[in-house]
Amino acid sequence: MRIVIARDYEHLSCLGAGLVGEAIVRKPDLVLGLATGVTPLGVYRKLGEMYEAGQVDFSRLTVFNLDEYYGLSPADPRSYRSYLERNLFSRVNLRPENIHLVPGQPGNVADACRNYDLAIAAAGGIDLQILGIGQNGHVGFNEPGKSLCVATHLVDLAPQTVEANARSFPDHGAVPGRAVTVGMGAIMKARRILLLAGGREKAAAVAGALWGPVTTAVPASLLQLHRHTTLIVDQAAAGLIRDCTSAAGGSG
Ligand code: PGA
Repeated sequence: MRIVIARDYEHLSCLGAGLVGEAIVRKPDLVLGLATGVTPLGVYRKLGEMYEAGQVDFSRLTVFNLDEYYGLSPADPRSYRSYLERNLFSRVNLRPENIHLVPGQPGNVADACRNYDLAIAAAGGIDLQILGIGQNGHVGFNEPGKSLCVATHLVDLAPQTVEANARSFPDHGAVPGRAVTVGMGAIMKARRILLLAGGREKAAAVAGALWGPVTTAVPASLLQLHRHTTLIVDQAAAGLIRDCTSAAGGSG
């Protein structure tokens, strides 16, 4: 795994957007996996700026998002569909037909999940997957447990995840307890992964993911087995790994 330690969140966002932008320039019909949450917001802002500046064209890009709350209306501003509309889709020239969103609506979830995996496969798999990491080491909403699911699936969120997600829900009781997430299969098959982590509260998860045993108790630890992962962390999230690696520019 390549490890890059950024000075701060702004630097992390610049480096992350630079990596994604370069990948799109190299392969304009890239299949990009999108994470949501607080961490990639700066990357999406900068990708919007790169589009405005004429540096990156999104018209041939295909995107698949990683997860969605279960049972929220798609129009709900707290849904990840709305998040992506607001923070990325409205800022760049992605074609609507190239945007694929994890199904979060009640109904035939099993079929909808299977169709989502089929759509990823039909697109040729993910070329570049953007990931965040939860404080409990989850990626997407693949929560720690005795086993991990390969396919896209409906998941009960861990109490720590519900707590973290409460930031976006003024009414704690309204925080969804379930979500649909792409499974570890499509994530691990991505040809390249960009893992982003910022803030001191992520330091233990990052260290566990990098140097702990590979275990379903820390889903991000599976990334140690991935051939082409770049981790970009800010100094705070790198707090527990800095003794083990050289700063600035990366190692690993
Ligand atoms: P965050 O979430 O970027 O909002 O911290 C990351 C995650 O839980 O995967």
